[in-house]
Amino acid sequence: MNGTGSGDIRILAFAGSLRKASYNRALVRAAAEAAPDGMEVEIFGLEGIPLFDGDVEAKGFPERVEAFHEAIERADGLLISTPEYQHGVPGVLKNAIDWASRPPGKATILGKPVAIMGATPGMWGTARAQAQLRQALVYNRCPMVLQPEVLVAKAKERFDEDRRLTHDATRGFVRRLLEELGELVRRHAT
Ligand SMILES: Cc1cc2nc3c(=O)[nH]c(=O)nc-3n(C[C@H](O)[C@H](O)[C@H](O)COP(=O)(O)O)c2cc1C
Repeated sequence: MNGTGSGDIRILAFAGSLRKASYNRALVRAAAEAAPDGMEVEIFGLEGIPLFDGDVEAKGFPERVEAFHEAIERADGLLISTPEYQHGVPGVLKNAIDWASRPPGKATILGKPVAIMGATPGMWGTARAQAQLRQALVYNRCPMVLQPEVLVAKAKERFDEDRRLTHDATRGFVRRLLEELGELVRRHAT
């Protein structure tokens, strides 16, 4: 909202997967297309973010980490789509959040409103990964959208081969999630 409380709400969206055919990256693209009026969604790819290393950090953020921080800084809120690996958050996403949480007390992610979602070909819709992701966001004092929970199970049946979302009910949930995120951003801006 340009720091003034007026204008479009700016959302930064990213997925915890690097692969081109990722369902979670596809879900982020579908969200950007379904964004309500008055909301702009910027998509950020996590490729190129190195493994967190305190020795590297001590010399300054690597370029891609700096770009990530700048993107978070200019956003009013975040939309994160997580895959589920071993019943938890994939390392790619956890690592990105570790970088985003630095330096302690002054991190760009600190207190930023967030909405989460996730997609899996499996049956449980990333419920366990989302529960873990919420814990990491609590540590960063992020206000979070609690409902709707966007748990996209059986992703192979909800996206086509070009990874376009074909399931209208899912699109409706994603849109409602963004509307709620917009409300959360507005509440925190006042
Ligand atoms: C290392 C690994 C662990 C996985 N663990 C889970 C899991 O715990 N639960 C689940 O639903 N799917 C699991 N999967 C399957 C992923 O949901 C699936 O690969 C999904 O497509 C990954 O997300 P993406 O399409 O956005 O890359 C796992 C996949 C990998 C590669």
